[in-house]
Amino acid sequence: MIGAARNGLAVSITGLGVCVPDRVVTNDELAQHVDTSDEWIMERTGIRERRMVTREQALSDLALPAARDALADAGVEGKDIDLLIVATVTPDMAFPSTGALLGAALGAVDAAAYDLSAGCTGFMYGIAQAYGMVAAGLSKRALVVGGDVLSKILDWEDRSTLVLFGDGAGAVVIEPAPQEGFLGFELGADGAGGANLWLPGSGSRVFDDPDKYVKMNGREVFRFATRVLVQSAEALLEQCGVSIDDVDVYVPHQANVRIIDHATKKLGVPSERVVVNVDRYGNTSSGSIPLALADARADGRLRPGSLVLMTGMGAGLTWGSALMRWTKEAA
Ligand SMILES: CC(C)(COP(=O)(O)OP(=O)(O)OC[C@H]1O[C@@H](n2cnc3c(N)ncnc32)[C@H](O)[C@@H]1OP(=O)(O)O)[C@@H](O)C(=O)NCCC(=O)NCCS
Repeated sequence: MIGAARNGLAVSITGLGVCVPDRVVTNDELAQHVDTSDEWIMERTGIRERRMVTREQALSDLALPAARDALADAGVEGKDIDLLIVATVTPDMAFPSTGALLGAALGAVDAAAYDLSAGCTGFMYGIAQAYGMVAAGLSKRALVVGGDVLSKILDWEDRSTLVLFGDGAGAVVIEPAPQEGFLGFELGADGAGGANLWLPGSGSRVFDDPDKYVKMNGREVFRFATRVLVQSAEALLEQCGVSIDDVDVYVPHQANVRIIDHATKKLGVPSERVVVNVDRYGNTSSGSIPLALADARADGRLRPGSLVLMTGMGAGLTWGSALMRWTKEAA
């Protein structure tokens, strides 16, 4: 799916909030559980540490503070939201949806609320859906949360996945704006490659060995990721009639610094325009892009008028890009 945002209302992000767990897990700590080292993890992934929830915490414990901060940033309350999407593969439970639970906690009594499953691309799918509903006038104001607690579904005996992921969540408020924020989206999926990153035994299909842990073919996912980050971004830039040189802030999914470097080089984005925080958080799945947006805002790179290119990719296999002009004034 690809399209430039030319037909509906002008829509933008008016609030942003994030939340990560307090607990920092270093590479050395993981090396006590599996045969790995800080040196290997740093060299092959660029990840120094990640955050992980406690046994008692669930996704909504991160999503709720992130959502509250996003609402406060937009100067609105839960009751002002009529659409609430939670993009995640680690909801509190299969049902009720974390979206519905969050709606109740926020007092969003008029909101349609649901969860969306698109792997690490979930946040990109979520903002595209919200954009569409707001631009068409169906929703007046949406809250989109992207977040995951992948530590809950990692195999602590599998070094090839354990070292990559972390927990975190981010939220944005999306509503009509005086000037165009969102300029276009490109989204895609390739279920044929799905078994390269999957969670067999987590649904209604019976498997012989359903241990309910993430399984991954790292090399295949690496190849896929480097390909789609470039293809999706280039297709969207062309669709919107924008050159890569015009992009002020590039926010790729934070999976591995080598994947980011590859995409950055191929696209031709100067490194000072690329947001990287995978060193501190690892791959937080749907939390990755909003966490990176928050970092870019905190370090002063995300300013009103900045042209922002975001691309996510992940399980499904899925991918998705959004191009937007940042319209929000600094707090
Ligand atoms: C997983 C990944 C870091 C592996 O890096 P790589 O350079 O491709 O490494 P390889 O898979 O070629 O493995 C090289 C060796 O390191 C080993 N290895 C794998 N994980 C290791 C770890 N944590 N510590 C030490 N050694 C490890 C492998 O077993 C392999 O050993 P072998 O040569 O004896 O078989 C990389 O493939 C990757 O990032 N893939 C994408 C994953 C991803 O981003 N998934 C989420 C997408 S949303």
